[in-house]
Amino acid sequence: MDTRLAYFEDEAAPALRLAEAAGLKASVIKRHDFPDQELMLTLVPPLADALPRTLVVYRSLDRPNDKLVELLLVARHARRLGVKRLVLVAPYLAYMRQDIAFHPGEIVSQPLVGGFLDELYDALITVDPHLHRISRLEEVMPRIQALTLSGAPTLADLIQKKRSNPLLLGPDAESSQWIEMAAAATGLDHGVCHKVRHGDTRVEIALPDLDLCGREVVLMDDIASSGHTLACAIEAVLAAGADSVDVAVTHALFAGDALEVIRQAGVNEVWSTDCIAHPSNAVAMAPILGKALGEVLADTQRDT
Ligand code: R5P
Repeated sequence: MDTRLAYFEDEAAPALRLAEAAGLKASVIKRHDFPDQELMLTLVPPLADALPRTLVVYRSLDRPNDKLVELLLVARHARRLGVKRLVLVAPYLAYMRQDIAFHPGEIVSQPLVGGFLDELYDALITVDPHLHRISRLEEVMPRIQALTLSGAPTLADLIQKKRSNPLLLGPDAESSQWIEMAAAATGLDHGVCHKVRHGDTRVEIALPDLDLCGREVVLMDDIASSGHTLACAIEAVLAAGADSVDVAVTHALFAGDALEVIRQAGVNEVWSTDCIAHPSNAVAMAPILGKALGEVLADTQRDT
């Protein structure tokens, strides 16, 4: 198959797991940061000698701003050299939370960043993109073949191995989709809190009407960013008499002191998928990503 997976050095581990799961050869793209913060990307042989007909690019879009430039440079370069199909595997898709202007003049970035990738790539595979006021990625990426996967079933399997009879809890209404998926797979007790956000790090959380006394609670969410949503929920759950609170998230952004914030709140263990490389990674998405990539590449072969 004339297909190769390209990845960046800082994501070698999850990218190589995916390459193995999908049966693809992989090549690194080297990145140099100039003192003025421009980037220079370098393909190494065999990619430097000849590009394949289909190029799969693995790039998770946490800390996204430089990475969006990388994706632009790689895609435009590949097209100029004749690559026919560009597949982006971005386990974390950034800028999806900014889907509405809350104040006059705010630029709504979700459709703009979505549109940027839509123009550059032919197919996208991602995991739990944060879609709130839209239901499908196609609404912001009309051209691309988009496959949306979820980390919730994989996290649910892990939770069942770690705890005997946990209660799954989502910190806000948006998390109900992941809680329901995990509960359907495991049959575990579950509920969803009500959250009001007052600022980047200020949230209020009301627990659902459930008896948490003596329970092992696992908070599940798609994203932990500042950590304040989880910290607030952890404090409320412990105050309601739970024995312990663990955290399971798909995307371990954990910006700044987020991990410390949730530790101070009293969390027991923190588990995440490897969508974003982080010390809390407890499960690999490669098997699921590899299967989806196989399907996208099979479509590619049929189309060409
Ligand atoms: C929002 O609805 C998301 O699902 C997360 O709950 C949120 O992004 C977490 O943000 P933070 O960790 O900054 O509170």
